[in-house]
Amino acid sequence: MGDGEPLFKRVAIIGLGLIGGSLASAIRQHRLAGQVVGYDRRAEELALGEELGVIDVAAESLEQAVRGSDLVVLAVPVRATRAVLAELKPFLDSDTVLSDVGSTKSSFVADVEAVFGELSPHVIPGHPIAGSEKSGIRAANPELFANHKVILTPADNAHQPDVERLRALWEGCGATVLTMSVAYHDEVLAATSHLPHLIAFSLVDTLAGEDENMDIFRYAAGGFRDFTRIAASDPVMWHDIFLSNRDAVLRVIDHFTHDLDQLRSAIAAGDGAMLLRVFSRAKAAREHFTKMLSGQAYVTNNSEKQVTFQLQPGGSIRGDIRVPGDKSMSHRSIMLGALAEGITEVKGFLEGEDSLATLQAFRDMGVTIEGPEDGFVRIHGVGMHGLQAPRGPLYLGNSGTAMRLFAGLLAAQPFDSELTGDASLSKRPMGRVADPLRAMGAVIDTAEGGRPPLKIRGGHKLTGIHYEMPVASAQVKSCLLLAGLYAEGVTSVTEPAPTRDHTERMLVGFGYHVHRDGATASVTGGGKLTACAIDVPADISSAAFFLVAGSIAPASELVLRHVGMNPTRVGVINILRQMGADIEVLEEREIGGEPVADLRVRSAELKGIDIPEEQVPLAIDEFPVLFIAATCAQGRTVLRGAEELRVKESDRIQVMADGLAALGVETTVTPDGIIIDGGQDIGGGTVNSHGDHRIAMSFAVASLRANGPIEITDCANVATSFPSFVELAQQTGIQIRTEGGE
Ligand code: S3P
Repeated sequence: MGDGEPLFKRVAIIGLGLIGGSLASAIRQHRLAGQVVGYDRRAEELALGEELGVIDVAAESLEQAVRGSDLVVLAVPVRATRAVLAELKPFLDSDTVLSDVGSTKSSFVADVEAVFGELSPHVIPGHPIAGSEKSGIRAANPELFANHKVILTPADNAHQPDVERLRALWEGCGATVLTMSVAYHDEVLAATSHLPHLIAFSLVDTLAGEDENMDIFRYAAGGFRDFTRIAASDPVMWHDIFLSNRDAVLRVIDHFTHDLDQLRSAIAAGDGAMLLRVFSRAKAAREHFTKMLSGQAYVTNNSEKQVTFQLQPGGSIRGDIRVPGDKSMSHRSIMLGALAEGITEVKGFLEGEDSLATLQAFRDMGVTIEGPEDGFVRIHGVGMHGLQAPRGPLYLGNSGTAMRLFAGLLAAQPFDSELTGDASLSKRPMGRVADPLRAMGAVIDTAEGGRPPLKIRGGHKLTGIHYEMPVASAQVKSCLLLAGLYAEGVTSVTEPAPTRDHTERMLVGFGYHVHRDGATASVTGGGKLTACAIDVPADISSAAFFLVAGSIAPASELVLRHVGMNPTRVGVINILRQMGADIEVLEEREIGGEPVADLRVRSAELKGIDIPEEQVPLAIDEFPVLFIAATCAQGRTVLRGAEELRVKESDRIQVMADGLAALGVETTVTPDGIIIDGGQDIGGGTVNSHGDHRIAMSFAVASLRANGPIEITDCANVATSFPSFVELAQQTGIQIRTEGGE
């Protein structure tokens, strides 16, 4: 806060242990308050606090600490809270902000209510998720909270400016601040922290009790060490936490004992399938823990990883590559495989975050899925009516496709479900599926403006409808067809222009009849799906980056293998060819109901064109990189009829125009498209991809014709659709380097 007013004039930290001391020294170090006053009953700790420079002033009494402070933070043991509150009550000004750092939040609120008779709007409970095996003021570390999460649990009536000031204080200490309700906080912590500690304490105690000399520990390997590390935590603190978070902890213990009991029965009965189901679900959950479950557990977005691409200008494209599997088909292969009877084997599955989120969601609904391993997945289908209620919200990451298709499937299930996603997905319109599903009889709540999360009520019978789609959307069409599998009678969807038909083709592959009549596709509810083998071709949407790269970079020649050539997806090839691109289609073949080919691209002089509107839905995801092609072409390119681009992972018209402008390229943005005069110089500069994977990759391609280095920020989401992009780009000749990430 070097310039202006600090956030608080005088902060009192009550209790100078590791957390209180670290907070005090972080506030001092970052000059977030005019003065930091410390108080601790233990005279030596207090004296040390002053001596070590952790606090500005040591208060001689609680009264001296609290009086005149505009923020009081309790950092005392949870079980001491009530007594300390009672003692400080007479000295607390009515508008002083009161917070704490305890691990359980309902107990803090109960203590405040017991002492003050109410929860004033200035009380904002807090919990930094940080710690260390060390304790005491000597271990105080001003960096303890850097890159850690802090959870605030303000009540509905909390004074918002206070919440914001407290948030700014923690952020000033380097933390990421999340807010949630008291109850949710305690549930989450009971599950992710308290229960594991309890189990570790109990397991070590049981084993130690079995063998008086504790000899068995001699034979324990690394697994035991990893698993039981936390059993060496502070017993006093943990006994406090369990007693304070009693209700939430009891619930999660019951849940766990029930599940443990089921595993016991499965072992007793020799039920290997049950063990495999649980273990493979757990293995996958553990593997994707940091990426996805952290998003679910703390209801935050997944884009905390800051990944930046650094590109050097110029280069040629050469090589022979296969880009990863098609995203649309990967999602659908899991969905239909899960609902089929029998075992479905998938080759070429895209191991990107989006399709992995879909896979995890089905595991959360009780489906056993083995893999993925090198793109191979084996799905043990549970049949049309075999899904089980998930325990919590299904987190779908960045994927609009997943959310819309799941909505159709889940609307027809007997159980309730909730669909959530990252920050980008949480802004995308879901009314387009919720409305027609409601017309079929589904009960769905959305957040304001039809946005996620979607809360779907189970147990409602669906009836087939005929739906004329107002926008050409494969996601809406697929959603309704999937709901139609469960609906009474016929569900038919007419599209205003052809959109990708993978759902229809794959349904046929699973033995489900789809009737096609011109622009209308229909299904009759009540049938079944039969497991099959699926070979997912390389994603033409990922190949598109290299088709443009090979076209615009001089002296280039590249072969792309096994690319999906579904006629509803080849708009990018049609458009590029019309612009003069040299793309050869080789070895056309049909694999598992989908056309596939190898593509050879060579450098070419591109020219600007008026993009035919009927090509728009057929190239809907490829426009960001087509804008780069247009920038490198001679003459004007005009895109119309593409307003859908504004509601993709970002507003792709505006974000591309802004990125091009940052590189010195002028464009004219229109409500439904863009006008790009080709032949302008692409300069160096910094482009913000706004967390949109395809924007990030498009500007990486632009570097081939730039005359200065390009930095692209917010690129972590490239992993949603094309996790190996950077390696393949390097391998073929794009001079790219990544910074940040894990
Ligand atoms: C998709 C359909 C398209 C596309 C998306 C994938 C699909 O979305 O943009 O990346 O798999 O059905 P819309 O249906 O919203 O156009």
